[in-house]
Amino acid sequence: MKNTLIEPSVVRAAMEQFDVTDLNNGSIRQIGGIVKTIEERTGEEFVHLEMGVPGLPPEKVGIAAEHAALDAGVASIYPEMPGIPELKYESSRFLKAFVDADISPEGCLPTVGSMQGAFAAFTLCSQIDPKKDTILYIDPGFSVQKTQADVIGVKREAFDLYDYRAEKLGPKLESYLAKGNIAAIIYSNPNNPTWMCLTDSELKTIGELAARYDTIVIEDLAYMAMDFRRDLGKPFQPPYQASVSKYTDNYIILMSASKIFSYAGQRIAVMAISDALYKRPYEALKERYGLAKFGPVMLQRILYCLSSGTAHTPQYALAAMLKAANDGELDFVEEVKEYGRRTEKMKEIFERNGFHIVYDRDLDQPLSDGFFFTVGYKDVEGGELLRLLLHYGISAIVLSTTGSLQQGLRVCSSTIRPHHYAMLDERLRMFNENYGK
Ligand SMILES: Cc1ncc(COP(=O)(O)O)c(C=O)c1O
Repeated sequence: MKNTLIEPSVVRAAMEQFDVTDLNNGSIRQIGGIVKTIEERTGEEFVHLEMGVPGLPPEKVGIAAEHAALDAGVASIYPEMPGIPELKYESSRFLKAFVDADISPEGCLPTVGSMQGAFAAFTLCSQIDPKKDTILYIDPGFSVQKTQADVIGVKREAFDLYDYRAEKLGPKLESYLAKGNIAAIIYSNPNNPTWMCLTDSELKTIGELAARYDTIVIEDLAYMAMDFRRDLGKPFQPPYQASVSKYTDNYIILMSASKIFSYAGQRIAVMAISDALYKRPYEALKERYGLAKFGPVMLQRILYCLSSGTAHTPQYALAAMLKAANDGELDFVEEVKEYGRRTEKMKEIFERNGFHIVYDRDLDQPLSDGFFFTVGYKDVEGGELLRLLLHYGISAIVLSTTGSLQQGLRVCSSTIRPHHYAMLDERLRMFNENYGK
């Protein structure tokens, strides 16, 4: 290996230290550890493209609301399981304002991040019908959601959406649903890691098939309204965030404050259960819990056992941020558009230096520039590409770890600072000079 920024022996030693021989099998934490070790040994700053953490300051209105709630003495009181009324009300309004979904405040339940929301949803969805014991992942996806199924002991199936867009999606989905064992379908939209956005017609396909096969759709809107090709940031005005809620009654929306309000540290999200599903009784739940209806079991059994509610002050914060957005006082979409601007610059640098965008289109349209994007280099295998880039001070996530069958890396634009563009350009140029022939 010639002309590298980092000595190959340093990369080798760091990988050995973290017991990683193939980066396809390295967890994000292991990759983080390897990179940190190399940085410490060499004093060379990496261009960190691996972590999906917010790169913007938290919304001030949330912080002020938390301060006020703490001063008012909420810390000494257990939060009530259904959540504070303000949060329930503003969540329901927000879903109407930005998704055009009608969900009653009753069905809007606070969770300790969407991480907990997904865990709770997988748990309950897999308990309502003994024949339905499997979660179907429309991949690529957020890999820890698979670990959640493994922790719960729920089976899983998955397919890579890459080859099944548009009219190919229905038959592919149906090939799983027809087996009768799918308890729930999960996807994120926009998608982590690729930033593909399912179209209305694809969501219609998912919704109609979920209704036909009586399967629950878990729609993860962690990056809600971040399809910047359209202005989704005006409350109660179209266009709205595309959603399966238009096409089925059998759904749960996960709405996280982490990215849309840069509030990841306070671990606050809302799980919004459709009115029909909330009230729906299930025999299996009655037998197991003495309670039959989906919503009450979610609250009083699942979420209660997981954390006995969600901390008070983040609930006040989220209620205040949602209210400000609903009232048109906080343009959260305008704020997060910064990620799109960073991505646009980074994509140009990658492409100029011989890389290509792996997931590059939503049917006939180029993808939106957003929080994540995917890159490949010639026909280099994903794990090997990351290993090579580590020698040039660049870190990312291998696509295979997200359930993707394509070769390449996930790149996150969030922590990029102005001085990183020139660094990235120079390092990729060196890399391309060495491997571009
Ligand atoms: C698709 C997706 N869902 C959920 C989450 C987690 O959200 P939270 O921070 O609310 O637990 C993330 C965070 O990276 C994500 O990318």
